[in-house]
Amino acid sequence: MSGYFTEKSSTDTVNARIGDDVSPRLREVMESLVRHLHAFAKDVNLTQEEWEVAIDFLTRTGRMCSEERQEFILLSDVLGFSMLVDAINNRRPAGATENTVLGPFHVGGAPERAMGDTIVQDGKGESCLYEGRVLDLDGNPIEGARIDVWCDNADGFYSVQQPDLQPKWNNRGVFTTAADGLYSFRGIKPVSYPIPDDGPVGKMLAALGRHPFRPAHMHFMITAPGFETIVTHTFVDGDPYLASDAVFGVKESLIAEFKPHGGDTDWHCAFDFVMVQTG
Ligand code: BEZ
Ligand code: FE
Repeated sequence: MSGYFTEKSSTDTVNARIGDDVSPRLREVMESLVRHLHAFAKDVNLTQEEWEVAIDFLTRTGRMCSEERQEFILLSDVLGFSMLVDAINNRRPAGATENTVLGPFHVGGAPERAMGDTIVQDGKGESCLYEGRVLDLDGNPIEGARIDVWCDNADGFYSVQQPDLQPKWNNRGVFTTAADGLYSFRGIKPVSYPIPDDGPVGKMLAALGRHPFRPAHMHFMITAPGFETIVTHTFVDGDPYLASDAVFGVKESLIAEFKPHGGDTDWHCAFDFVMVQTG
């Protein structure tokens, strides 16, 4: 090989430039990235014009990013890439609760609430009692599990999307299990909503004939000493977008039944979470 660039030798020529004193992992990742990127361009015979469209798209995606908005993660989400990376990094034994995408609307430091309390502060939506247990793989209750929950309001917006309209911690809270592993809180039955689609990612979805909706879900992040963290949702059974989630977050095991409930609550959702020990 001469070392000069040709179409045929493109991958090897670029990868041969990597120095000797480079971390083996960086080498592995970058060599593979170059291999796949070059193979992609060759596979589709990428035109100069298409390359320019791609550069413009990525530039607009970068310009859309701010402290409040991460358009690159959204791009990763709608390409199924976030879910793939999540799946690779959270392989769990049968019976354990599956992970799904974190999403951009989690806010750390939500108020610690007592079991049974409500997370609803705007008075909107159909009320729902959420109940269940946090268990280990053998079915034993886990004490001291922190259950951080968040969801959109009845209008389909998270509190961080409407800082002037919603209380900061609306539909958010943290609950800690006692020795019985039980949890319960009151929230709303969440509603389906579109992911932010006023940027380049939204335009790309439209160009691909895809809608931007996510099926209704409640977010959970569950941590407990000695156990792997679970980042997941429970999805509302029967939601019309379950089979076409814009970010591919749905897993069958995470679809939860919402049953009509008597008394002062409209709905009831029972769901147990099963954690895997670390190490
Ligand atoms: C969410 O569920 O909050 C979400 C996930 C991915 C992209 C946008 C929103
Ligand atoms: Fe969400």
